[in-house]
Formats: sequence, C-alpha cells, structure tokens
Amino acid sequence: MTAPEIRTIGVVGLGAMGSGIAQLAIEAGYATVGREVSDDLGERARERIAHFLQRKVDKGTLGVDERAAALDRLSLTTSLADFGRCDLVIEAIVEDLGAKLALFSELETIVRPDAILATNTSALSVTEIAAAVSTSERVVGMHFFNPAPLMPLVEIVQAELSSRAAVDAAYTVGERLGKRPIRCHDTPGFVVNRILIPLVNDCLRVLDEARVSPEDLDTAMTAGAGWPMGPCTLVDLVGIDVHVHASEALYEKLREPRMAPPPRIVAMKNAGLLGRKSGRGFYTYDS
Ligand code: CAA
Repeated sequence: MTAPEIRTIGVVGLGAMGSGIAQLAIEAGYATVGREVSDDLGERARERIAHFLQRKVDKGTLGVDERAAALDRLSLTTSLADFGRCDLVIEAIVEDLGAKLALFSELETIVRPDAILATNTSALSVTEIAAAVSTSERVVGMHFFNPAPLMPLVEIVQAELSSRAAVDAAYTVGERLGKRPIRCHDTPGFVVNRILIPLVNDCLRVLDEARVSPEDLDTAMTAGAGWPMGPCTLVDLVGIDVHVHASEALYEKLREPRMAPPPRIVAMKNAGLLGRKSGRGFYTYDS
C-alpha cells in the first residue's frame, strides 16, 4: 500500500491518553478530530487540553495566538462518521479486545481505503486487533506513554501484516509530534511494558516483604535508583486499574509469575482505589 500524506488525524477516545495525543496533534499543526461517546466527555477533554496549553502560555513556552490556533484545529464529535476525512486514526479507547475489534471493524467501513489505523494499546496484541479489518496491512501500533504530552517515547509497533508504508508513516507522524519514536515488533508489552510492568510489580511486592511504606518505597526508588517518580506515584498516575489490566494481559500471554499483579493492588482496584483519577490510590488527591 502507499501511505497517504498525513494532514488530518482522528483520535478515538479522549481520556487521559487520547486527550494527550490530541493535544500533541493540534500543537504539531494537524487538523484533529476527537471522538468521545458524549458531548460532555468531549468538552471535558477540550478543557483539559486548553488548561495544559494555558500553562504553557503562562510559562512562556507557547504564544497566546499559537494556543488559540492549536485549539481551533481540534474538532469534537460523537460520531465515527467524521473520521471519513482523516488520513490517520489513532484509537485510545478502553483496553478491552472486544471493544477494540468492534471499533476497528466499524472504522474500516468509514475511513478512506488508504487511511492508516493505529492503536495506542499498551498490553493487547496489535495483530489481534488488526484481524478485525480485511485490510490489516494498514494497522499499526502507536504506543504513547503517560502523560503523553510529556513523555518523549512512542513505540511504533509493526504487527504481523503491517505494511512498511504504514509503519513508516506512523514513525514520521511520531517525529512530527515531537516524540522520539522507536520501531518494534508486536510482542507482549512491546519494549517498555515488557520490562516496566514486572519491575513495578516487584516494587509493589517489596511493600509487603520489606514492610516499607509507599512514601519510603518511592523515596527508595527516586533517591536510590534515580527514577523520576517512585513506583507508587507512578501507578497512581497510570491508574491502578490500567496497571492491573496490563499485568494480567502480559501474564496471560507470557505466564511469567512476575507479570501477575500483586494481590494488594488487585484489592485496591476492586475497592475503587484507582489512583489520581479516583482521588485515591496509594496517595490521596484533591481533584
Ligand atoms: N498532560 C499535559 N500536560 C501535563 C500533564 C498532562 N497529563 N501533566 C502535567 N503537564 C504539564 C503541566 O502544565 C505541568 O506544569 P504545571 O504543574 O506547572 O501546570 C508541566 O507539564 C510539567 O509538569 P511537572 O512539573 O509535573 O513535570 P516534571 O518535570 O515533574 O515531569 C513527568 C513529570 C514527565 C511525568 C516525570 O515525573 C516522569 O517522567 N515520570 C515518569 C512517568 C512514567 O514513567 N511514565 C510512563 C508510565 S508507563 C506507561 O505509560 C505505559 C503504559 O502503557 C501504561
């Protein structure tokens, strides 16, 4: 396949990751269509993006006019039909294989035949997601890291049937978004999560083994290992539910005991302690 020149990007799902990706796209000059299931959720994402762009204006790293122009490039919709004009659609919905398969098979009937479809999945198989469409060569992984506007990496994931053109086009978009893209194949956890998930799970097991507090564990890993944030702060940021789900998905594929989520954080998830987004995880948050 020949990849189109990417001018318009669609983002499906404007939660923490999707809104961060949409923010990157409008800042990089792309016309961007963001889709949420309700107008309210869409507006909430726009406000979040507007807030972070305002912080950049306050700090002098973005002009007032540039902020306004970036926000003008964002259009919100609740309808997938609006992705008909997109050259690239990036999916950032819930990490549920069934939901992703249904979305991709619907997207295939809407987007142009040469448009690229990307998934931001962190722990599911891109190849399995691509199987939902008859034109699997146009499906790739574009895995961003949380918080997407701040973390420089994007993993460009080549699934079993991804075409070279689609992978190259996604890589070029990653560069234009200001990221440091890397190429990898579709193996469980790709590169970073294959390493980070068991490592963070080890950290969480040490909480009980060494009877150390979350604060002290975080201090240990920031002050002793040079991590930018401690593991408890990190899983609160990523979302306890997201971390448990990613651990379970990797454990299912690899059967390595270190991948399995420690019981303590499964219990937290079941109790609704989801981290920052629910106001409480290892720590308590204002909003
Ligand atoms: N979106 C957009 N902008 C944001 C943001 C967000 N979510 N969060 C913060 N910002 C902006 C804010 O405007 C903030 O400034 P103000 O607080 O003054 O408004 C500005 O960025 C700078 O924020 P910080 O001062 O908090 O930045 P920092 O220098 O402390 O770095 C960090 C923050 C980059 C997150 C750093 O702590 C870090 O690298 N942490 C590790 C994060 C990490 O490992 N992420 C990977 C998670 S794993 C994953 O994502 C994989 C997966 O599949 C689940």
